[in-house]
Amino acid sequence: MKSSMERLNRTGMSTAPELAREALQVTRATRPSSEGDAEAIASVRIAYSKSGESIGSIPPPDPAAAPRNGAAVAPIFLDKLGERLAFERSGVRLYDALLSKFDAFGTWDNGPSRGDLEEIRNDELSHFTMLRETMIQVGGDPTAVTPSADLHGVASKGLCSVLADPRTTLGESLEAILVAELVDNDCWENLSDLALAVGEEELARTFDEALNEERDHLRRVRSWLGARLSQTATGELEDAFQLRAEQRERGWDPPAAERPRQAKRISQRVASSAKPKRKGATASTKKTRKNGARSRTRNARA
Ligand SMILES: [Fe+2]
Ligand SMILES: [Fe+2]
Repeated sequence: MKSSMERLNRTGMSTAPELAREALQVTRATRPSSEGDAEAIASVRIAYSKSGESIGSIPPPDPAAAPRNGAAVAPIFLDKLGERLAFERSGVRLYDALLSKFDAFGTWDNGPSRGDLEEIRNDELSHFTMLRETMIQVGGDPTAVTPSADLHGVASKGLCSVLADPRTTLGESLEAILVAELVDNDCWENLSDLALAVGEEELARTFDEALNEERDHLRRVRSWLGARLSQTATGELEDAFQLRAEQRERGWDPPAAERPRQAKRISQRVASSAKPKRKGATASTKKTRKNGARSRTRNARA
């Protein structure tokens, strides 16, 4: 089986001029099967948009449910509850698929353990369960595909495709998980704020607890991906990735020109603390690197 980093040209035209010429001949030999251009396509899109139905649906409230704060629950709140509920359910499936990638390809230094992935998978499941109960509590239908649930489901299709593709490794799949966790973090923030806006303070606190767990997921996924990138490039965990992690913790992003100076300061601090075990921090290993004998990740396909 070939490594994903093996240099085999299947798509580049610049490095295969002969084949590029052949490919272009096909475009000259075949003609479009219908008249029209991009403007015609746009006019069809506009016509369909004006006559089409809206996506998803929000069922009418359960008549047996008690009113919330003396009023009917805002439809947008039900919509967004349905969205997070569906996303967390998909999150469980994404991490299930990621666990298979782990079993197939293994991990790398400072990458995820199986236990790490199981822990996050279980968090996603508990968020789903909590949202399902919340939906029932506010008189909504947890099985409904609300407009926003539909929208996010369609937008996430590519993520599921990446995870389901047998060719993608654990590291490559984590790139898709990063997208999911980034979106998830923003959407949990929005749901919490929305709960406050509609007078659901207790629910907002519950959502904040989930948000804290999602922030931890994002932090961990970023650090695993950073370690993979760094080690694939140089065989070491480089300062730039450590610096970036610290900046994200502080929510601060300095200009690019300041990064090298900041990196040096932080790497001195890291070196004086016993915790992070950077490989190749000594002069002798630096010299070894220059000679080309770079350390390898545990699994080249990760
Ligand atoms: Fe999640
Ligand atoms: Fe998550």
